[in-house]
Amino acid sequence: MKLHGATALVTGSNRGIGHHFATQLLERGAKVYATARRPEQVSIPGAEVVRLDITDQSSVDAIAELAGDVDVLINNAADTAGGNLVSGDMNAIRSTMDSNFYGTLAMIRAFAPILARNGGGAILNVLSAAAWNTVDGNTAYAAAKSAQWGLTNGVRLELSHQGTQVVALVPGLIGTQTLFDFADRHGIEFAEGAVMDPADLVRLALDGLEADEIEILDPMGVEAKASLAGPPRAFAL
Ligand SMILES: NC(=O)c1ccc[n+]([C@@H]2O[C@H](COP(=O)([O-])OP(=O)(O)OC[C@H]3O[C@@H](n4cnc5c(N)ncnc54)[C@H](OP(=O)(O)O)[C@@H]3O)[C@@H](O)[C@H]2O)c1
Repeated sequence: MKLHGATALVTGSNRGIGHHFATQLLERGAKVYATARRPEQVSIPGAEVVRLDITDQSSVDAIAELAGDVDVLINNAADTAGGNLVSGDMNAIRSTMDSNFYGTLAMIRAFAPILARNGGGAILNVLSAAAWNTVDGNTAYAAAKSAQWGLTNGVRLELSHQGTQVVALVPGLIGTQTLFDFADRHGIEFAEGAVMDPADLVRLALDGLEADEIEILDPMGVEAKASLAGPPRAFAL
């Protein structure tokens, strides 16, 4: 997928990895819809800033109506604070599944016909190595990411007839405030070099997208996928 001259939409672009997606897509010559639940927090010169809550169907319908020229959909937004499945708060667990799975799916269903009209295009879903190795303290998030992996594979199959490139981006530990807050809450100190800079992750993702890859893994993602051949394990933090 060539990004120069493309029209991209990024969900959750007010902070973290989404902010880097919107910024780097602009740098690569794409038009960018930088969306967020709180658009007043988006400060990306050159982007078209639009309000979007991916778990609100009327909000999803409105963006699909507005952004009919999109040919690259970046599903980055997610609630990452699900907590644990058995002992955690059920509302937090539902919210995590709601954004990661149903929100991503709502966006894909709204934009699939738009991508078809615009030549096929691409969808990139931001998953996590937690899809493959669960995370102590956040098993609900890991389960939601596993569901999102299944979703990605299913959608790729269903949209192959229209030539849509459906990509799973599978990162390990990415240095956003959300990750550092999680580490503080759980008393985790990351090993030297374990945490990747979000700008580097997004560069890897966009290079992979432009090289027509369908699964883009950082080193921890590679390790997590290889471990699937053995017994289930937790993500080593
Ligand atoms: N950081 C990591 O270590 C890491 C590793 C692997 C995968 N990931 C994945 O990378 C993506 C971004 O992570 P991050 O670290 O950048 O997280 P982040 O800084 O917490 O950002 C999450 C973004 O998603 C938005 N969001 C949440 N629910 C939404 C909804 N219903 N509608 C629209 N926007 C919504 C948030 O908006 P608000 O500001 O309004 O809350 C925020 O912009 C997520 O899919 C995450 O699972 C992260």
